[in-house]
Amino acid sequence: MLHYIFAMAMEIYREGAVEFSLPVSERVFYNPRARLGRDMGVLAMRVEAERLERPLEVLELMAGLGLRTRRYLTEAPVAHLLVNDANYDAFAYLQETLKDETRVELRNELAQRLLARLYLEDRRFDWVDLDPFGSPAPFVPWATGVIRWEGLLYVTATDAPVLCGAQRGEALKSYDAVSALGRECHEFGLRILVGFLQRRLVQANMHGVPLFSLFDGYCWRVLMRVFKGTRGFNTEHLGFIAQMPDGEYRATHAGVPAPVIHTYDPAQTVRWIGPLWLGPLHDHAFLGAMFRAAHEDYFAETRRFLTRLNRELDELPVIYNLSALADKLDRSVPPTREAIKFLRERGYRASGVHHSGNSIRTDAPLSTILQLWEYQV
Ligand SMILES: C[S@@+](CC[C@H](N)C(=O)[O-])C[C@H]1O[C@@H](n2cnc3c(N)ncnc32)[C@H](O)[C@@H]1O
Repeated sequence: MLHYIFAMAMEIYREGAVEFSLPVSERVFYNPRARLGRDMGVLAMRVEAERLERPLEVLELMAGLGLRTRRYLTEAPVAHLLVNDANYDAFAYLQETLKDETRVELRNELAQRLLARLYLEDRRFDWVDLDPFGSPAPFVPWATGVIRWEGLLYVTATDAPVLCGAQRGEALKSYDAVSALGRECHEFGLRILVGFLQRRLVQANMHGVPLFSLFDGYCWRVLMRVFKGTRGFNTEHLGFIAQMPDGEYRATHAGVPAPVIHTYDPAQTVRWIGPLWLGPLHDHAFLGAMFRAAHEDYFAETRRFLTRLNRELDELPVIYNLSALADKLDRSVPPTREAIKFLRERGYRASGVHHSGNSIRTDAPLSTILQLWEYQV
């Protein structure tokens, strides 16, 4: 592929502070939808380097054609970057385009093998970046051995049919969890992913604290700070969400009595989703620091996204899609802002949801939310 890449007409792209040329091809292409994830990575690295008062040692397990690599090297404080991709042509392209970069060490290995080798060599990193096609699940147990204590694990998942309930069998196989279809599926998918990461960390005698967890309309991304030991892990944050026969969602825990209806009747049946993460999705102080680090004009959109993340009550694991409720009632969809105000006036907590403009996060029971339509003209 390499000769093929360099022989082709090239197109120049600009992202962040970086300009790069890619071939005009269907096999290799610039994916603008992945930009937010790269922006978030750059900003989080800036904040982390400031905390540590030194530039970072980074492991990028799946670099592709190195867009992320170039942005990290140009825009973030990076002391050393071990860059890997299993694909030989991608590796050769990285070799060619990064040949003058003294901070880079290049590898061309299966990520699992590389991680095992680094573990045996006792090499650990401040930041481990895992950006596969599809599920990150096969790589996470290997990655736990190379992250420094209080270091960061940045994980992407793009397997939407799996995390969103269209392939529930695959979700069981990859994440040991039951996913669910429906308009709230991206939230369940996000929490299944965070729950999975936590369980794998805990099994390696570690635990994590999510600094941000997002769905950007294209994929899920989680940045996790990793701590030694499991004492700081709150098992109350692992549980299930049950959808009751009337459609109400309830967060619940393993071992705690919960409603089960034995006779199968779709109108009376409880649907279980999980196990998943019921705890907070973000560290708001960290998000604030990322916002302040985003001083360049080209971060304008990402700053707006950070504001959305910072405003949501992410410690509330239950969300409702207002369009889905309106459809059931055969009524129009109320403005999200009005729904939030309505619930707050009744003493409940409520906010928007970063990945869905017409959803709300709340601790209100469904019966109260449905009253919204009674008060609407
Ligand atoms: C989503 S792309 C990476 C994009 C890149 N991080 C960026 O932001 O531009 C996924 C990459 O993972 C590589 N890959 C897939 N399986 C791998 C494995 N087991 N070990 C190492 N690399 C792998 C593929 O060759 C591909 O280049």
